[in-house]
Amino acid sequence: MSEKLQNINLNKVPNHIAIIMDGNGRWAKQQGMKRVFGHRNALTAVREAVAAASDIGSKFITLYAFSTENWNRPKLEVDALMSLLVTSLKKEVPEFQKNGIKVNSIGNIEQLPKKAREVLKEVIEKTSNNSTITLTFALSYGSREEIVNAIKNISKKVVNNEIEIKKISEKIINNHLYTFNLPDVDLMIRTSGEQRISNFLLWQMAYAELYFTEVLWPDFRKEHLFDAIIDYQNRERRFGKTSEQIDANA
Ligand code: FPP
Repeated sequence: MSEKLQNINLNKVPNHIAIIMDGNGRWAKQQGMKRVFGHRNALTAVREAVAAASDIGSKFITLYAFSTENWNRPKLEVDALMSLLVTSLKKEVPEFQKNGIKVNSIGNIEQLPKKAREVLKEVIEKTSNNSTITLTFALSYGSREEIVNAIKNISKKVVNNEIEIKKISEKIINNHLYTFNLPDVDLMIRTSGEQRISNFLLWQMAYAELYFTEVLWPDFRKEHLFDAIIDYQNRERRFGKTSEQIDANA
C-alpha cells in the first residue's frame, strides 16, 4: 500500500474531486513530439487519478476533457482528441465494470461528432448500475454556457407558469445545470502550474479547495492525487463560519 495513502484520513476525504488535466502539449514538446502525443499519453494519468480517488472512497470525480474553447484548436488536434475519446471510452468498458465506475458526462454533448455521442451514450448506459464512483467527463463544457442555458430553461418555465419568480432558489438553479445529479465540488486540482479556473464548474466550486501542482498531466499518478488529498486535509473548510464554530461542531 502506498505510504502516502496511509497518511490520509479516510473519514475526511473530498466527496467530489474535479480535475483540470493540463500540460499535455508541453509534455509532448519536452519530448520533441507533437501535441497529440501528449494527449495519447494522458490516458494512464486518467486511469491513475480515477483509481486513486476510488481507493480513498471519493464518490465523484469530474475531468475537464474538452472545453467549449477547445473547439478553436487546430482541426487536426480536435479530431485527434475526439477519436481518442471514442477509442479509449470503448476500450475501458471492462475496467469500468470491474471497478464499479459509473460514467457520466456534462457539457454541450450535441456539439460532439456523432460517433463520440453514440459511444458516450452507450458507455453511460452500460455502466449506469455501477456505484463505486461516478466518473464525469466534461466535454464541450463551459461553465458560463451552462449557466446561460440554465437561465434560459428556467425563464421558459417562468413564462409557462411552471415556476414562480419568487420560488427561484439555489436548488432550482442547481437542478437546471448539467451537473444536476452531482454534488458540489470539494477539491479542484489543476496540473501544469497554471493557476486558473478556466470556465470550469464556476457555480459548483463556490466552496471548493483549490490545489495546483507543477506536474504535467501525462506524468500525474496516484501519489500526486494523494498529495493533493493530504494538502486538502490540512486545510480548514469554514464555509463562512469562524474557526471556533467549526471546532465546537467537530
Ligand atoms: C490540456 O492540455 C488537455 C486537454 C485540452 C485535453 C484533455 C484530454 C485528455 C487528458 C485526453 C484523454 C481524455 C479522454 C477523455 C480521452 P493542453 O493540450 O492544454 O496542454 P498545454 O497547456 O501544455 O498546451
